[in-house]
Amino acid sequence: MNKIPVWLDTDIGVDDSIAFLVLNKQKNLDLKGISAVAGNVELDFTYPNARNICCFVGADYPVYKGADKPMFVEPQTAHTIHGEEGLGRAKLPVSDAPETDIPAWDAIYNAAVEAKGELRLIAVGPLTNVAITISKYPQIRGLLKQILIMGGAAVGGNVTPAAEYNIYADPQAAQIVFKSGIPLVMCGLDVTMEAYMTPEEVYELGAVDSPVCRFFGDSTIDVLNFYERGSLPGLCLHDVCPVLYLTHPELFSGKEAGVYVETRGTITRGKTITDLMSDKKFPEKNAFVVLEVDRDGFSAMVSDILRSY
Ligand code: BDR
Ligand code: CA
Repeated sequence: MNKIPVWLDTDIGVDDSIAFLVLNKQKNLDLKGISAVAGNVELDFTYPNARNICCFVGADYPVYKGADKPMFVEPQTAHTIHGEEGLGRAKLPVSDAPETDIPAWDAIYNAAVEAKGELRLIAVGPLTNVAITISKYPQIRGLLKQILIMGGAAVGGNVTPAAEYNIYADPQAAQIVFKSGIPLVMCGLDVTMEAYMTPEEVYELGAVDSPVCRFFGDSTIDVLNFYERGSLPGLCLHDVCPVLYLTHPELFSGKEAGVYVETRGTITRGKTITDLMSDKKFPEKNAFVVLEVDRDGFSAMVSDILRSY
């Protein structure tokens, strides 16, 4: 089987961990490396979290340290959702894998060169590492097959009424990525808020007697409570969407659109402006915006994958 080379850039994080666990089980993906970025929690947590989750599942993917803060704005963490160290109440074994000094942007570029135009970058945190890579290596534009982003929203936001967290956290980086000319898939809140597991599904999966399902239960319980307090129907698994979009596109639907980022607005900072509804269109349709998901199919697939560990 010809496997698709992929890279995961993440501020790992509760739903980021689930995305990794799902990605790791995809037989047609070849994960070349993982880069950690500051976001949900500080890089001092996201980097070890990425290393430790590899160790947890017995995988030896190389893990690289990326940016410890956004390009221009002040860091904005989400400890209230992801917990003190980023993984809710879950604890992982500490990895003793050898470490490298190669920074994330150099590692991503090297992997793109090696994959000869076939590498797909799955980015599920603030886009700081990705933007630094594009800025340092402009030639990567012709080398990346696709960037699949969890970020943004055609309509509404979560961290503010206008903006989704990953884009709000580093709007200038996001703008560099959206203007890069690299083929983009945007899994924004439009689809990810529908990609949820019901509380019953979460409890059932978390009660399965296996290390991975226990990790799922312990890491997600406080996030589920947070969403329930916000009257949402379940646990949104935002970061799983770009992974499963790549491997199971039949679960999703969307549209090509022009998408740009508001970097300067005060109440609209970090909003991804799409031309989906407007008569006036942007000059280019620079992204495929994923808008819908088969929720039942999505939830069942995540559940099956985590039970398969
Ligand atoms: C995004 O923000 C983070 O908290 C999640 O991990 C996800 O990437 C959702 O807005
Ligand atoms: Ca994330």
